[in-house]
Amino acid sequence: MADNRLKTVLITGASSGIGAAYAQRFARRGHDLVLVARNRERMEAAAARLRSGAGVAVDVLPADLTAPAELAVVEARLRDDRRIGVLVSNAGAALKSGFAAADLDELERLIRLNVIAVTRLAGAVAPRFVAEGRGAIVNISSVVALAPEIMPGVYAATKSYVLTLSQSLQAELGPQGVYVQAVLPAATRTEIFERSGLSTDAIPVMMDVGELVDAALVGFDREEAVTIPPLPELGQWENFAAARKAMLPNFRQEHAAARYRA
Ligand SMILES: NC(=O)c1ccc[n+]([C@@H]2O[C@H](COP(=O)([O-])OP(=O)(O)OC[C@H]3O[C@@H](n4cnc5c(N)ncnc54)[C@H](OP(=O)(O)O)[C@@H]3O)[C@@H](O)[C@H]2O)c1
Repeated sequence: MADNRLKTVLITGASSGIGAAYAQRFARRGHDLVLVARNRERMEAAAARLRSGAGVAVDVLPADLTAPAELAVVEARLRDDRRIGVLVSNAGAALKSGFAAADLDELERLIRLNVIAVTRLAGAVAPRFVAEGRGAIVNISSVVALAPEIMPGVYAATKSYVLTLSQSLQAELGPQGVYVQAVLPAATRTEIFERSGLSTDAIPVMMDVGELVDAALVGFDREEAVTIPPLPELGQWENFAAARKAMLPNFRQEHAAARYRA
């Protein structure tokens, strides 16, 4: 197992919800933290609680990850601060509207947060982790990455990107000592619904955020590549992954499949 025990954890979206729960859990495990989000006051309040409660060092790094100059500051921190050994890329948002009704600027902002920031932050830290032969990148995807039918608009596609990126990074960086985990929560009780104006009426049940993060950390400790906390039968994911892998050798063909030949 990669030794990340003494390393500082940088968590994006640490001011509420899943990110705040990660901060609390990692602090309880004795990790120093760097908290990233826009709301400085909320992070300062959490940092004060964690410093006194868990006795760890907590830095607050306010940044709007959709603003290139502010994202660059977080990238520099990941590149240069050799104490950081774990990146939890959690900041994310959803959109209320479906694709046809979407404001294209809002849609682009969502992609900047859910896709570009996740990519650039991983890209900023990966060379150092590879050089050190250790480090962990935790990317928060969603079960909608596997179920685009149940969310309108581009949200599911952004989360599918996070899953695929994580799998690519596992293939490339895993052999070089870097652990990459994709976490796929289902509906979890956080502010994301209210923030995006999404109704929760059609969601029959939601997971408590602490339970979600505790389960995700069990997956982290086992160095699972993909952790789906709500899925009762691991075999269902394994069958899905095996069906995908079984196709791979069949993609290498000189000719189109018979059904496409005139
Ligand atoms: N809750 C669910 O049901 C669920 C299910 C599957 C996946 N997820 C994923 O879980 C992750 C965390 O979401 P959550 O449910 O915990 O929602 P949340 O409570 O709304 O938290 C979102 C976090 O992201 C930060 N954030 C939002 N926009 C930002 C920006 N432009 N720059 C920097 N930080 C920003 C927010 O802080 P500030 O406002 O202070 O910036 C907040 O800390 C997201 O990636 C989400 O897609 C959630």
